[in-house]
Amino acid sequence: MYGLVNRALQEFICQHHGDASWQAIKTMASVDVELFVRMESYPDDITYRLVGAACESLNIAPATLLRNFGRHWVLFTGQEGYGSLLDGAGSSLQEILSNLDDLHVRVGLMYPALKPPSFSCANVSDDGLTLHYFSERPGLAPMVIGLIEGLGERLGKSLTISQTSDRNTGADHDSFDIRIA
Ligand code: HEM
Repeated sequence: MYGLVNRALQEFICQHHGDASWQAIKTMASVDVELFVRMESYPDDITYRLVGAACESLNIAPATLLRNFGRHWVLFTGQEGYGSLLDGAGSSLQEILSNLDDLHVRVGLMYPALKPPSFSCANVSDDGLTLHYFSERPGLAPMVIGLIEGLGERLGKSLTISQTSDRNTGADHDSFDIRIA
């Protein structure tokens, strides 16, 4: 994944656990990259190793870390340099989630080697929707939940999210039911 993601992970860990923790996590993950370059593409394996080492060293379950990182991504990373992309994606959760593929196409103009996920919405109503999530990468459904939670916070909406299909239990993709209060 692009360095942008690894840098955001670094900022997230440093903000909550300090710089020394991040250095220890990099060492534990055998990652000897001094500083991730946002516009450079790195093997996915590096990101997975960093997440694994962070969970082990901080004694946090992967689902919890990924979920909190997802919220952080929307509320901080997305906000900092890419707030206008998020704003342009829509003004309601239904609209933004329906436009996620377009959003990543726009991101891909800046990051040409991007391998974005794909989303589709179903059962869209005023008080909720079903979100289908497709990715070539395994294990990131908890991050999607955190990303949606971050979008909800950004919009000042209280959400109830439940996973309705799960690749971990044999489904071909992950899906979520989202209720908007
Ligand atoms: C303006 C805000 C956003 C930017 C700049 C952005 C950019 C990116 C980038 C650079 C990656 C790494 C992919 C790669 O390097 O190949 C990524 C992955 C991802 N993005 Fe976004 N994104 C944004 C918003 C969102 C939102 C709102 C969601 C909501 C669900 C989302 C869902 C994901 C997921 C789940 C991945 C993990 C990769 C995968 O599943 O295969 N992104 N995004």
